[in-house]
Amino acid sequence: MRYIDELDFAGKRAFIRTDFNVPLDDKRNITDDTRIRSVLPTIRYAMDKGAKVILASHLGRPKGKRDEKYSLAPVARRLSELLQRDVPLAPDCIGAEVESMIGAMPPGGVILLENLRFHAEEEPNSPEFAQKLARLCDVYINDAFAVSHRANASVGAITEFVKECAAGFLLKEELTYFYKAMEAPARPLVAIVGGAKVSGKLKALENILEKADKMIIGGAMANTFLKANNISVGTSLVEDDLVETAKNIMAKAAAKGVKFYLPVDCVVAEKLDAQAVIKITTVQEVPAGWMILDIGPASTAVFGEALYDAKTIIWNGPMGAFEIDAFSRGTMAMVSQVANAHALSIVGGGDTDMAVHKAGEASKISFISTGGGAFLELLEGRELPGVAALKKCGEEK
Ligand code: 3PG
Repeated sequence: MRYIDELDFAGKRAFIRTDFNVPLDDKRNITDDTRIRSVLPTIRYAMDKGAKVILASHLGRPKGKRDEKYSLAPVARRLSELLQRDVPLAPDCIGAEVESMIGAMPPGGVILLENLRFHAEEEPNSPEFAQKLARLCDVYINDAFAVSHRANASVGAITEFVKECAAGFLLKEELTYFYKAMEAPARPLVAIVGGAKVSGKLKALENILEKADKMIIGGAMANTFLKANNISVGTSLVEDDLVETAKNIMAKAAAKGVKFYLPVDCVVAEKLDAQAVIKITTVQEVPAGWMILDIGPASTAVFGEALYDAKTIIWNGPMGAFEIDAFSRGTMAMVSQVANAHALSIVGGGDTDMAVHKAGEASKISFISTGGGAFLELLEGRELPGVAALKKCGEEK
């Protein structure tokens, strides 16, 4: 795979696939611009090297139709502020008008194409649509880690129709940190996995078992493991069909010598409600009719001890229903323990990322991935289609 700094950009039209799928409020203001800021080094680099920079992204899921609710106009405005120059928004992402706008751009200029997903051909990886995108450029850069798990036309098929392809700085950084953590980690490597369901993370858990020295499980998914240990967890969310699987995972961890940590206490309530009465109990004493909604202080202490000698930490998924303050303490305490560990720390996944920012500890984490689904697919040990496409492009041309 080639990287952006191996290409010559002077006078070339550079198509940069970004992931500007940013959160917006009801007035269409961007509430978190991290994904935009993260690709500025790539954008600035290509501009400084004299390329005509063509930025392309999806936003939301407009289902293949033009819908102003999903226009990239707010992103064009934010980019103009960040780059301190006007970033025009093209009326579409393909077609004669867009081609002539690009034709009229000076070297070092920049333009943002309208939402790729306004075309139904983008998501099914249509070669015809990819060809129309490829007509716009001489070189293709993928700097959209967060959508590289999608074989969409602007991520996959386009690489077949462009002579030169490379990874941008963000994609390179994401992959470099991930491989440092999972393929060649300084040990002990401690993996923390949380979130609601075992089912969504089964493949990731199995892959992590092959690599980590310790595994810490939190969030509602821990309930299924507790039940597998014959602990009754009241009305907590449990995936009954995965209790046997959870047993097997723990048996495999024991056989491999991977230390496996589950919560020892928890915050419980009768319902998931900010006003609910809460109690802290050991996991053995969850009252009937109550549910586990966060890890308790003893679990935080145990997990903290497990992290004490960690040299590498990889974390995906919160410890509880942290969006409600009453159930956020466990996740917040873990953020602080990870942030203050003497370890390379990598956090990925939308919720975990949000928790780290909410705790105000982002600057103390070695790397926060911009990916949700893409990060999870890496944890599952899969190669991302966007990365595979870049490699193939390099082989053929
Ligand atoms: C994300 O936010 O995870 C990416 O932008 C991918 O979006 P998608 O799940 O709509 O494909």
